[in-house]
Amino acid sequence: MVHRPLRHSLRPLPALHDDWLERISGTLKDPTLDRSHFCREILCEIAYPEYVVNYDTALVDPKIPLGTRLALSTLDPRHVTLEPEYYADCDDEKFQRVKPLLWLWYSFDRLPVGGQNVELGVRFRRLLAPHIFKSVGERFKAFQHVEFSYGYNIECGDDVVVHRHVLLDDRGGIKIGNKVSISDYANIYSHTHSIVDQKDVTNATTVLEDGVRITYHATVFAGVKVGLDSMVGAMAVATKDVRPHHVNVGIPAKSVRVKPNAPNTTPDRLHTSHEREHKS
Ligand SMILES: CC(C)(COP(=O)(O)OP(=O)(O)OC[C@H]1O[C@@H](n2cnc3c(N)ncnc32)[C@H](O)[C@@H]1OP(=O)(O)O)[C@@H](O)C(=O)NCCC(=O)NCCS
Repeated sequence: MVHRPLRHSLRPLPALHDDWLERISGTLKDPTLDRSHFCREILCEIAYPEYVVNYDTALVDPKIPLGTRLALSTLDPRHVTLEPEYYADCDDEKFQRVKPLLWLWYSFDRLPVGGQNVELGVRFRRLLAPHIFKSVGERFKAFQHVEFSYGYNIECGDDVVVHRHVLLDDRGGIKIGNKVSISDYANIYSHTHSIVDQKDVTNATTVLEDGVRITYHATVFAGVKVGLDSMVGAMAVATKDVRPHHVNVGIPAKSVRVKPNAPNTTPDRLHTSHEREHKS
């Protein structure tokens, strides 16, 4: 293995980036902000700039194609429904407060200005996260196409990285510690359905402790605690708790080793596959 830290000195970007982000950050600080109007305004500027000035009249202008008027109308989050709004356990008051920012986040990711535009996207999502999550620490980093259930049920520590296309289903709550990394296409669930009656839903808080790495395409089930500094391997399904410092792989995920840097006090410490074979 070669140590390859991320590069930091890329070409400087136009000041427009900072100006736009500062405007968003400043506007979000206003506790009386009409978040739906704000979301619509920002999206209109970056998606349909020609309608910024006459947005309201354009909506009812028969000369503008119906589909265009529909698309314009959906820039306003009050004119769309999101899946969690159909859930019986959704706290409507909390959700309606975060919905405009979730809609802004998702819609930005689908425009040329957003999506794979790393620097702007990471900084933009870092501004939105504290206004959506229950709590979030320093240097939060999310790449494109991350999705949430409620958003308001996420507690997140410092230096958390969430990679592209991750699902954070926080219906029952997700607690994420410091220095946690969640890789591409991973799914973290916190609700489950009865095998008899699909409408019988159990919510359970899922916990990813400090230093956890959930690797690509892995899934963590509702209520599972992934222990300190442990790792869930690619494509694994963690149906039960993962012990601290362990590496769990497969379906259902089972421990294949303890990380070599684990403290000597780590329980069930198995060093080599030879030892594993003789213990199992
Ligand atoms: C979790 C992971 C790091 C484990 O690596 P490791 O500790 O070096 O484990 P090994 O390669 O020695 O594998 C141990 C055993 O588990 C199996 N195994 C390893 N990863 C597996 C996986 N994702 N799914 C199923 N089995 C797996 C191996 O085949 C091996 O089985 P064997 O003992 O029967 O031969 C690695 O498999 C993985 O999933 N990597 C994902 C990519 C990655 O590096 N992510 C981190 C940053 S996003």
